[in-house]
Amino acid sequence: MLTITSASIEDAPTMLDIQRRAFAEEGRRVGRLEDGQEIPPLAEPLADLVEHIEGQTALVAREGNRIVGAVRGIVTGRVCVIRALVVDTDRQGQGIGSALLHALERRLADVDRYELTTNPITAGNVPFYERHGYRLTELTHYSATVRLAQMAKPGRGEPRQ
Ligand SMILES: CC(C)(COP(=O)(O)OP(=O)(O)OC[C@H]1O[C@@H](n2cnc3c(N)ncnc32)[C@H](O)[C@@H]1OP(=O)(O)O)[C@@H](O)C(=O)NCCC(=O)NCCS
Repeated sequence: MLTITSASIEDAPTMLDIQRRAFAEEGRRVGRLEDGQEIPPLAEPLADLVEHIEGQTALVAREGNRIVGAVRGIVTGRVCVIRALVVDTDRQGQGIGSALLHALERRLADVDRYELTTNPITAGNVPFYERHGYRLTELTHYSATVRLAQMAKPGRGEPRQ
């Protein structure tokens, strides 16, 4: 059975391990797995994750005692930036990512807008978020080789168009 709860500081190393495994495929596609420099989730230090657990909203999904996924919501003013939605590689495609995203949106329901950045090089990413109500707002060039999709969805505070 899947349970989703707030992350604790002790969960941080496992969350980072899952994040690195989950984004390794994207790193391989971009051709920069070794240094992670072109893929921010691969290069993120543990201290940043700990800071988010302490000061923002970080959720973990567990099957029994095993952490199988995580997500963070960083709220600034009335905007929530969704960061590092990750599911462990052997548990992807079974609804855990969707459950984490819904849980985070429920937890942070009172914002005007959710925003996130994803890499369209992984073909399933943009359609995944579109199915959850997000719309592509901009395609940007993070670097010469990496394009990023900016996506957003209205929160409860913003009237839907
Ligand atoms: C993207 C991600 C969080 C989705 O979580 P998930 O638990 O695999 O997704 P769900 O089971 O809830 O939904 C499955 C849908 O997600 C999409 N998807 C995106 N990436 C996928 C992947 N690697 N494996 C399976 N489905 C994936 C599929 O299109 C699938 O659609 P379908 O149900 O029509 O087949 C997860 O696959 C992951 O951690 N990927 C690597 C890291 C990443 O890219 N994170 C998001 C970008 S910020």
